[in-house]
Amino acid sequence: MLKGKKIILGVTGSIAAYKTATLIRLLVKQGAEVKVIMTPDAKAFITPLTLATLSKNPVHSELLANAESGEWTNHVELGLWADLLLIAPATANTIAKMAHGLCDNLLLATYLSARCKTYIAPAMDMDMYAHTSTQTNLEKLRQYGNIILPVAEGELASGLNGFGRMLEPEEVFTFLTHHNTATQKLKGKRVLVTAGPTYESIDPVRFIGNHSSGKMGFSIAEAFARHGAKVTLISGPTDLHLQHENICRVNVTSAEEMYDKTVKQFGKSDIAVMSAAVADYTPEKVSITKIKKSGNELHLKLLKTKDILAELGRNKNKKQILVGFALETDHELENATKKLKAKNLDFIVLNSLQSKGAGFSHDTNKITIIHKNGITQDFKLKSKSEVANDIVNQIIALIHA
Ligand code: CTP
Repeated sequence: MLKGKKIILGVTGSIAAYKTATLIRLLVKQGAEVKVIMTPDAKAFITPLTLATLSKNPVHSELLANAESGEWTNHVELGLWADLLLIAPATANTIAKMAHGLCDNLLLATYLSARCKTYIAPAMDMDMYAHTSTQTNLEKLRQYGNIILPVAEGELASGLNGFGRMLEPEEVFTFLTHHNTATQKLKGKRVLVTAGPTYESIDPVRFIGNHSSGKMGFSIAEAFARHGAKVTLISGPTDLHLQHENICRVNVTSAEEMYDKTVKQFGKSDIAVMSAAVADYTPEKVSITKIKKSGNELHLKLLKTKDILAELGRNKNKKQILVGFALETDHELENATKKLKAKNLDFIVLNSLQSKGAGFSHDTNKITIIHKNGITQDFKLKSKSEVANDIVNQIIALIHA
């Protein structure tokens, strides 16, 4: 819930700044206290007077409010005051500066001083959003622990059509509300989550891996933790960072290591969600020295790895809830239903690589949940953190059924 939360809303110079008027109204109506910081360019798009009136607080903008008289705005105080910092809209320029620690305005100084969670709602033209530098900067910010909201697809200020629009104020509001709703509905539950890829060594410098980023599994672990569960997150190699007092992270590299750690933990768990992209095959032999280039072909013999989820399914007791994922490119429902039954799951989360915006490299995902009683639910394309909420809510519903 956002009631009583102290929120700093950072507004930067984008046409989407007009959306912040509605957003502030929604936040204030919910009982949040909102203080607005505008970058100098933002004032060209919406007036400080509008945002001050709606937020019922003076709007801050200058680091040095009146340098001659020795006045300055205390960004450290502002940063420490906030329970939550939301930058919406966030332009490519502000995102780039944040990613590199630049600090040439009050908003950036406050961001660097703040100890609270920061949410970033990008807004820009589709080519700027898709540009490698913007995507690299967003990835960096994510790795620093910030939460990046997805962008919407549609008509842009440039007249082009594509991904880059800031979410609508109602959508930003719902996103924040979900993220800040601690229900404690899972207090006392022990949860096991696997995430990320596995790396199977070929020699000291090479491995077989996959494109899994770990984002889905990390979002699931966070969603469980927000509901008060104690989570063990067993993660393959990923750059993601995560800090929550309810989450204990165990890093592994290979499928074999993930199997050992997961099977050992399962006996102590009430709920297990296996979202890792585990290698199905691993090299029979790992060369202890670098394999030198020789003939035109190199043959590697691969052996099947142990299926962790299937093993948990065989050992599961009646009280434990077991959830798996299925990533399919064809005959999606049929293949996922087979896995659901073969691995003895309560439900399976199907991702289709056919769905636009779904899959490994995206921040969004589109899922279908297939329950063991045959009930199938389709969900819309959503951010991975909202998808994680949907999955956790399904589990809460099973527990309370
Ligand atoms: N899984 C696992 N251990 C493995 C392989 C998969 O625990 N060795 C889990 C995944 O974490 C996922 C589910 O099984 O929850 C399905 O994974 P997926 O790769 O879609 O299916 P597979 O069973 O490996 O079958 P295939 O690759 O043939 O589609």
